[in-house]
Amino acid sequence: MKKYLLTPGPTPVPERVLLASAQPIIHHRTPECGQILSEDIEGLKYVFQTKNDLFIFAASGTGAMEACVVNLLSPQDKVLIVNTGAFGRRWVNITKLFGIEPEVIEYPWGRIANPKDVEKKLKEIPGIKAVFTQSTETSTGVVNDIQTIGKIVAKTEAVLVVDAVSGLGGQELNTDEWNVDVVAGGSQKGLMVPPGLAFVSISQKAWKLVENSKLPKFYWDFKAYKKFLEEKKQTPYTSAVSLLLGLQEALRMIKEEGLEQVLQRHAILASATRKGVEALGLELFAEVPCNVVTAVKVPEGVDGVRLVKMMRDEYGVGIAGGQREYKGKIFRIAHLGYMDRFDVIIGLSALEIALSKLGYKIEVGKGIAAAEKEFLK
Ligand SMILES: Cc1ncc(COP(=O)(O)O)c(C=O)c1O
Repeated sequence: MKKYLLTPGPTPVPERVLLASAQPIIHHRTPECGQILSEDIEGLKYVFQTKNDLFIFAASGTGAMEACVVNLLSPQDKVLIVNTGAFGRRWVNITKLFGIEPEVIEYPWGRIANPKDVEKKLKEIPGIKAVFTQSTETSTGVVNDIQTIGKIVAKTEAVLVVDAVSGLGGQELNTDEWNVDVVAGGSQKGLMVPPGLAFVSISQKAWKLVENSKLPKFYWDFKAYKKFLEEKKQTPYTSAVSLLLGLQEALRMIKEEGLEQVLQRHAILASATRKGVEALGLELFAEVPCNVVTAVKVPEGVDGVRLVKMMRDEYGVGIAGGQREYKGKIFRIAHLGYMDRFDVIIGLSALEIALSKLGYKIEVGKGIAAAEKEFLK
């Protein structure tokens, strides 16, 4: 059975990227690797829309999140977490593990953060060092208003830390213009690279916290990364060289298409997916849906876990179910990274067939037709 990967990470990897990653291994302490690393960092700065320092780690996205916490903070620091889902909760879990008692603004799943709540909390609690949140919250399919939150945080001493692991390369994020001090990213989503690389960008304002941070760190130490990069064009520890080669090719592809066009493509695919599921009588889960994944409520009488399993095992179409308390209650179709119009059609088609098999009454073809009409606009 032919397989299709429509999950919000890992996402499909283009042939060009796979072939680039298959090149013979080079040593990480060579000028050749230094040149690749430098090109990767420059290319990522374009995707992040930043001139800030940017580091690449061999890790998954969660590594980038942990790196932010341990490099910015000290025990007893006050922090604010703006939690809109499973990945917001991850900020809570990481900070707590390091002995920090975070102040948390928690929203029901599916809702976005209200920037006014952030403003109020920052006024109420003086001395907050950092505000942590998500750009796209993959578990619920929302996109937060980072631009407005950025304006609010920029007026304070606090730094804004944004997890854009699923948003980068799919959802607009103008790091510098929007005053985002620290951005965490990963390779296996919008960047079209296999899992295994994590990225962090750091502003000058955030470097002041890094200078004074007392939480323990060894592998994640930003200062070591900066020193090695500036003095040797190297990472302090062995680089994931095959992934760096893949990333180089993926970033070239993004540059060739143009970031604006890449983001526009994601917007069109997202809009077609939404129109498609709505045409089937289904309801979107996100208050403000993002452009990288569409979260949909499982209709009454349908077993949501079975639906996802059926699409994967019987039709070869991998989508994601709901996480935690939303298991079986929502499903998520990604349109992220190396995706185009016909990936959306495949996803909707498999959905229509699986829903029909599960006894949900729909007119097959209606979802696809709605998506195609979007493409004809
Ligand atoms: C928004 C968000 N943050 C963090 C992560 C964690 O990334 P990883 O699974 O690569 O550690 C993910 C992955 O799904 C994500 O979507």
